[in-house]
Amino acid sequence: MKPANASLKSEPLFDMDWEKIRADFPILNLKIDEKPLIYLDNAASSQMPQSVIDRLVRYQTTQHANINRAVHYLSEIATIEYHRARSTLQQFINAREDREVIFTSGTTDSINLVMHGYGRKFINSGDEIILTTLEHHSNIVPWQMLAEEKGATIRVVPINDNGELQIDAYEKLFNERTKFVGLIHVSNALGTINPVKKMIDFAHQHGVPVLIDGAQAAPHIPIDVQALDCDFYAFSAHKLCGPTGVGILYGKADLLEAMQPFKGGGDMIASVTFEKTIYNTIPHKFEAGTPPIAAAIGFGAAIDYLTAIGIERIAAYESTLLDYATDCLNEIPGVKIIGTATNKAAVLSFVIDGIHPHDIGTILNQDGIAVRTGHHCAQPVMQRFNIPATSRASFAFYNRKTEVDALVAGIKTVQKIFL
Ligand code: ALA
Repeated sequence: MKPANASLKSEPLFDMDWEKIRADFPILNLKIDEKPLIYLDNAASSQMPQSVIDRLVRYQTTQHANINRAVHYLSEIATIEYHRARSTLQQFINAREDREVIFTSGTTDSINLVMHGYGRKFINSGDEIILTTLEHHSNIVPWQMLAEEKGATIRVVPINDNGELQIDAYEKLFNERTKFVGLIHVSNALGTINPVKKMIDFAHQHGVPVLIDGAQAAPHIPIDVQALDCDFYAFSAHKLCGPTGVGILYGKADLLEAMQPFKGGGDMIASVTFEKTIYNTIPHKFEAGTPPIAAAIGFGAAIDYLTAIGIERIAAYESTLLDYATDCLNEIPGVKIIGTATNKAAVLSFVIDGIHPHDIGTILNQDGIAVRTGHHCAQPVMQRFNIPATSRASFAFYNRKTEVDALVAGIKTVQKIFL
C-alpha cells in the first residue's frame, strides 16, 4: 500500500495535469449551499466533460435527423456519426467487428437483451444458471424471471469476508446442467475486481457461455473482449462520462446471429409481410425503433475523451486515491470498511457504528459531499454482511486528495452529531 501522504504526481503514470483535466468538468464548479461540490458518487453516474456536452450541442444544432431511413443530407450525416460511435466503442473494447456492438439503453437493457435473446431460446427446464453474490439486481432479476418461466435453477457463487468470490465454490457449481454464467466484473457495492478471465476460461472448459456485467469495470479497467474471450459484455455510457439512456452489449457474432430478437419493430427487419418477417442482420436485429442517436454519438465522444487520457492512467490515479482514502478511513475509530478485497476499483463502502447510512449521507450532503447510501441495488451483498446498507464513496479521476480529506472531516462531523 502506498503511504497516505504519497504525492499523486510522483509516479510515471501521473504525468497528467489532473487539475487541468478536472477543469474540463463544468459541474464540478457547483456550490451546494455555498459549499463546493465534492462529488463522490461516480459509481452511480460520473460527470460529463465540456467536450461531450459540446458534441451533443453540435449534433443537435447541425446534424440531427433519424438514421438508416432516408437519403437526405441530415439523415446521412446522423447515420454516419451514429455508426462512427459504434466503431469507437468497438475499438475501445477491442471487439473483432463493429457488428458485435449493439447500442442499448444501458447495462440493464443489455442484460435483459441476453436473457430474452439467448436465455429464452437456449435455456430450458432443469438447466442451471450460475450467478454470484456480488451481482447487481440487474444481473439477478432477469435470470430469476427466466428461471421461473423455464423451470431452470439459479446457483450462486459465495464470497468471503473480504468480499472476494470463492473460486473453488464457483468451480464446484458446474455440472452437465450448467448452461450459463452471469458475472459482475467489478462489484458496484464493494469495488471487488473479480478474476473474470480465469472464470470465463473455466466456464468455457465446460462449454458454458459467460456474460460479464462491466458497468463498474469499463470506467476503471482497460477492457479487451478478445483477450477475455467473454461471450457477452455490457456497460453504460453514463458511468463513462457520457449521457444517460445509452449503453452497449458486446456479443460474439455467432452467438448474436443465433439469438432471437428481443424487441420487434422498425429497422430490425429485412422484410415484413403478415405471413412472415425476415429479421435484419446484426447489429440491426437488436436495435428496433429509433435508437438513442444523440446519446450514442455523445457516448463516442466520451470514449474519445477517456481514451485521450488513457484508462491505464485513470486506473493508476484512482488506485492511489483509493489507497489514500482507505488508509484515512481505517484510522477513524468506529468506521468499518465493507469490502476489503486485495484487488479493488475506486469504490469505498463503509458503515459507522451506531449511525444509519442515510443519516451519514444527509449530514455529508450539508457539507456539499455527495455519496450514495443504501443497498446499492445489491441486496444479497448486504445480506452477506448482515447489514441493511452502507455509505459508499466512489471516485473518478477528477477527484482530489483534498476531497478525501473533506470526506474524512465530514465523517467526523457525523460522529460528533450522532454519538
Ligand atoms: N448501479 C449504480 C450504482 O451502483 C446505479 O450506484
